[in-house]
Formats: sequence, structure tokens, C-alpha cells
Amino acid sequence: MSWISVSDFQHPNGWRNSRSSAERAQWYCQQLEQGQILFFSTLPFALPEGQQEFLRSQHQVASQKQKNISYRPAVDKLRGVRQTSSAELSRFQEIMREYSRQVTQFLTEFLTPYTKHWTVDLASLRLLEEEGRDLPLHQRNDLLHVDAFPTRPTQGGRILRVFTNINLDRPRVWNTTDRFEALAQRFAHAAGLPQLAVQESSLVRKFRRQVNRLASAMGTRTVNRSPYDHFMLRFHNYLKESTNFQRECAKICLAFPPQATWIVFTDAVPHAVLSGQFALEQTYIVPLKALLLPDQAPIRILERLCGRRLS
Ligand code: SIN
Ligand code: FE
Repeated sequence: MSWISVSDFQHPNGWRNSRSSAERAQWYCQQLEQGQILFFSTLPFALPEGQQEFLRSQHQVASQKQKNISYRPAVDKLRGVRQTSSAELSRFQEIMREYSRQVTQFLTEFLTPYTKHWTVDLASLRLLEEEGRDLPLHQRNDLLHVDAFPTRPTQGGRILRVFTNINLDRPRVWNTTDRFEALAQRFAHAAGLPQLAVQESSLVRKFRRQVNRLASAMGTRTVNRSPYDHFMLRFHNYLKESTNFQRECAKICLAFPPQATWIVFTDAVPHAVLSGQFALEQTYIVPLKALLLPDQAPIRILERLCGRRLS
């Protein structure tokens, strides 16, 4: 099975009553943490067609730096929108705010164990046709990769993403392959894990953590990457650069139909988007302490492989 279909999870009242709510939420969290994709064939939260239509009619700035339009819920800020009237812009912002709120409210019920400790990260609106996009190699979406954010290191926290296909009649088509552990066993060494694992003595680690704490206490915006974050960025790039891996690996193709929503830890489920236009996405960072199966987290898998701490 390539995904777990939640709305088809056979029960007269759907997923809401299919198990006791706490047991159900734990089960779905565990499935996600083990690399499953949870799939809803219809919208599990409110997003009226009028709002979807408005989003589809928008335009983003032409820039290679800004791959999509982004919305930052913490500061209620939209980025990457092409110049438009202020009335139009405030409607846009209102819709993205409401989308982010609705999807977060839904997950609060559906994946309750995460909500106490997660960070609600960026949301995005993906307006461009993915097939044939002309992007620099490391930014290409059509090459299999696991996610790592250059400007938002997670320090071992996991990247949880919710996607919704708002295209009227075309699917969003992904490829996926073996999960993180299998890829790490094959390629982590070649991607530079041993070098990163020995680079830092415990004294240096202590100093780095203190500097990071001080910088965040002072509100300084710095990119504080742990060895784990460094490795994940390298691994992301390594997989995209490896023409052999891209060509030879076993692929499973997934076509997410219009109005489908899917939830996935994209730091451990390799993915490539081959085609599709118009999607919404909301990201959450789930720290290790909120996970039900922390040993399945990429940081723990890598630590087992190299025999060192990477935080
Ligand atoms: C990605 O995260 O690589 C892109 C996925 C998508 O836009 O469908
Ligand atoms: Fe990605």
C-alpha cells in the first residue's frame, strides 16, 4: 500500500469515531513516524470553493529565490505575491490566515500528541505547474529528496507537512522510494556523515549550544545548525546530485486527485513532484520530545549509524 487512506478507513462515521480519539490519534502519529503517507480523498477541514478559486487566480513574483508564495502564521505575513491592489492583498492574506488556522485546528484533533510542543511553521501556496519548471539543481522539486530547510534548522525536530491539491481537475503527481533509513544505510557515508560526526568535540558542542541560546535570548536571527542540520542539507543535495540514484532507485508513483489532502513527514519520506498545479501546504516542526517513536526519527537513525550524537 502506498498510502493509508483515512477517509476510506471503513467506518460508518469515518475517522472521527473509528477508534477512541486518543488511541486513534496515537495510531496515526505512529504510522506517520514510520514513514506512511496519510491520505484524505476529500477535504478534512473547511476551505470553501470561492476561496480556492481566488487562490488559483493569484500570481507570484518571478524569482528563483522564492519558489512559492509563503505565509508565516506567527507574524501573519505573506511573501512572494505579485503586485496587486491592497483590497486584493488583504483578501489573499485573510484566506491564507484562515487556511492555516483551519488546517491547524484539524490537526489538533487528528494528531493531538504533537500539538503541545510543535511549532506551526510556514504555509505555502504552490501556483506554478511543476512539470518542466526551470530551477537550479538543488531547488528542483522533480528530483527525489528528503526535506531540509537551509534557513530553518530543526535541531533534530521533524518536518511534518500537510498538502492539499486545489486543482480543479488534475492530480498532483509524486514519486516516492525507499524510506530514510534504507537511504541513509546506503548513502549517508558517501554524503559525508563520518566527517560531520567527528568534527565537533564535546567542548565545542557545549560552546555552540551556549552561543545559540544567547543569540535566541537576544532575539538575533542567526541560522544555528546542529551537525544533524548540516548533514540533512548535505543529504538533500547529495540525493539530488546523484544521477545514478535518481535513475536507478525503485519508484512508486502517487497521483493525488483534486481536493485530496495528504500528511507526511517529508524529512523521512523521499518525494519528487512530477506534475501538478495549485496546491496548499502547511508545515509543522515536531520536536523529538513530542514523538511517539523517537527512535525512528532521522536524527536517531543517523546517530546509530555513526555512533555519535548529532544534536
Ligand atoms: C517538495 O516538497 O519537494 C514539493 C512537493 C509538492 O509541492 O508537491
Ligand atoms: Fe521537498
